[in-house]
Amino acid sequence: MVREWDPRNASSDEIASLLGTLNAVLAADLPQDPPWRESSLREYLSEVMPGERRISWVAQAEPAPDAAPDVLSGHVNVLLLGGIGVLEVLVHPAARRTGLGRELVRVAARRVWDEGFQSIGVEVVGGTPAVAFYESLGFTREYVETRSVLDLNAVDWPALAEMATGVGAGYHLEFCPGGPPDDLIEAYARAKAEVRDVDDGELRPSSYDPERLRASLDTLHRRGMKPYIVLALHEQTGEVAGLTEVVVPAQHPTRADQYDTIVVRDHRGYGIDRAIKARMLLELRSAEPELVEVQTWNAQANEAMLKVNAELGYRPDREWCEYSVDVAELVHHLDPPR
Ligand SMILES: CC(C)(COP(=O)(O)OP(=O)(O)OC[C@H]1O[C@@H](n2cnc3c(N)ncnc32)[C@H](O)[C@@H]1OP(=O)(O)O)[C@@H](O)C(=O)NCCC(=O)NCCS
Repeated sequence: MVREWDPRNASSDEIASLLGTLNAVLAADLPQDPPWRESSLREYLSEVMPGERRISWVAQAEPAPDAAPDVLSGHVNVLLLGGIGVLEVLVHPAARRTGLGRELVRVAARRVWDEGFQSIGVEVVGGTPAVAFYESLGFTREYVETRSVLDLNAVDWPALAEMATGVGAGYHLEFCPGGPPDDLIEAYARAKAEVRDVDDGELRPSSYDPERLRASLDTLHRRGMKPYIVLALHEQTGEVAGLTEVVVPAQHPTRADQYDTIVVRDHRGYGIDRAIKARMLLELRSAEPELVEVQTWNAQANEAMLKVNAELGYRPDREWCEYSVDVAELVHHLDPPR
C-alpha cells in the first residue's frame, strides 16, 4: 500500500524503518558509502527552502500477523522548486523488481502533474539499477558529473599545509565554521553570482543573492547539515576572491560533502583554488575529528578543478547523472487513459 506520508509527524518507528531501508539500499548499491544515522533524519526529510515544498509517500507492506508494525519497504518524495519536481525513490532490495518503484513514481508523477509542473528531474547514480529503471520510464540523461572521494587517512598533511599557504600576495584566507560572517554575506553572494552562467546542472541550484543565501544557510542548519567555509579575501578591495564550502551532515558525519568552490575570474592564477581547499581540509581535521572522507562532484569538462582535486588526493568514484522527463509523457506512460 502506498500512502502520503509527512515526516514531521511520522512515528519514530517509521523513521527508524525508513532509515533501515535507506541503509539496505546503500549496502546493495553503494557499499563503500557510510550508512546513515537517525540523527536529524526527520528534519532532513522535512525542512525545505522558503517557497519550496516536499511531498512524500511511503510503501508499507500488508502487516503479516507476526510482522513488526511500521515496516516501510519503499519511499518517494518530490521537491517542488521553480518549474521542476525533483524526485527521490527508494525501494528496499528485498522488495525490488515487483513493480513497487514504478508505482511510487506513478503516484508522485500524478501529483506533480496535478500541481501544474512540467518536468521531473532525478539524480541517478551510475552503475546502479536506477539507470535501467529510469530509462525504462522514459527519462533521458541531461548531465553527467563524476563523484570523487578523498580518504583523509591517505592525505599527505605536510604537503597540504604547504599548499594552504601557497596563495599569492595580497590575499588572505579566512575559515568560517557555520557560514560566512554577516558583514561578508553581500560580497560572498557577489562571488557566487559571478559564476552563475557556469552550467552546473539544475538539481542543485546555488544561492546568488544575500537573502537567498541566508535562507539557504538557515535551511542547511535546520536539516542538521553543518556548513564550513574558507574564503580568500582580496585585501585591497575587501572582495571575496574565492570560496569553498563543505557540509558535514549529522546523518553521515564521517563523510562530508564538498559543495561549491569558486574563484572569481579576476582573481584566477594566484593559487587560490588549491589554497582554500587545502586550508579547509586542515581546519576540518580538528573541527570534525569523526570525519574520514570528503566527497565532491565535478563536471567532466572541468579539467582545472579535477586537476587540483587529484593533487589533493581525491579519487574518481562514480558517474552521477541528472535525468529528466516531461511530466505529461511520464503520466501518460504510467497511467494511460482508458
Ligand atoms: C531504482 C529502484 C527504485 C527500482 O525499484 P524497483 O521496485 O525494483 O523497480 P520496478 O520493479 O518498478 O521496475 C520497473 C522497471 O525498471 C527496470 N528495472 C528496474 N530494476 C532493474 C534492474 N536491476 N535491471 C534492469 N532493469 C531494471 C525494468 O524495466 C523494470 O521492469 P520489469 O521488472 O518489468 O522488467 C530501486 O532499485 C532503488 O531503490 N534503487 C536505489 C535508488 C536510489 O536512489 N539510490 C540512491 C542511493 S544509491
